[in-house]
Amino acid sequence: MRLVVAMTGATGAALGIRLLEVLRELEVETHLVLSDWARATIRLETDQTVDEVRGLAFRSYSARDLAAGISSGSFRTDGMVVCPCSMKTLSAIRIGFSDNLITRAADVTLKERRRLVLVAREAPLSEIHLENMHHLARMGAVIFPPTVSYYSRPTTVEEVTNSVVGRILDQLDIEHSLIKRWKDEPSVTDAGLLLAAEEAK
Ligand SMILES: Cc1cc2nc3c(=O)[nH]c(=O)nc-3n(C[C@H](O)[C@H](O)[C@H](O)COP(=O)(O)O)c2cc1C
Repeated sequence: MRLVVAMTGATGAALGIRLLEVLRELEVETHLVLSDWARATIRLETDQTVDEVRGLAFRSYSARDLAAGISSGSFRTDGMVVCPCSMKTLSAIRIGFSDNLITRAADVTLKERRRLVLVAREAPLSEIHLENMHHLARMGAVIFPPTVSYYSRPTTVEEVTNSVVGRILDQLDIEHSLIKRWKDEPSVTDAGLLLAAEEAK
């Protein structure tokens, strides 16, 4: 499997890094692009260097290199993830403003009808953000806000990060064992059964 992975300057550099680590373990061929502000947030938010993050990918490109293979639809991929995705990059993707390799590769991913997962990070969301996300969702992109699933009772940042990355991998149909899945088998401890039992009293 071959994926384009981009990291932009939204908070959550750890999410992109963990995603790259797991994809590497799973032997997925990753083509990485970091925006200028992704490089800044890697420095601000993590103990890793930009070169170490680049080293996790199969291949890494400058965001200014619009002649890179991934800027053409003829370079075949199984999709693209922008993790984390800033509102600025999201807005550029929405209107096809392809002035760097991230927005160009996303534009290519959409035009070629490949999977595009945008790990869109902002809170609260303005009408502009919501409208951009709405349009992208209608174009087929997956808008994936990196939110916490409390039902798995995470106790560490690493668990939260893994749970978000696991659900991103689900969107790409990549098998993994990063998350505790919601129970398939009902049991007496299920909240729904407990509620039903309480109502029956
Ligand atoms: C520490 C830090 C955290 C930021 N977090 C966010 C964020 O969560 N979401 C967002 O849309 N922008 C955030 N920004 C602002 C973006 O970095 C800024 O809009 C930048 O122009 C994005 O450019 P890029 O998409 O090319 O990386 C943050 C900036 C800094 C320095």
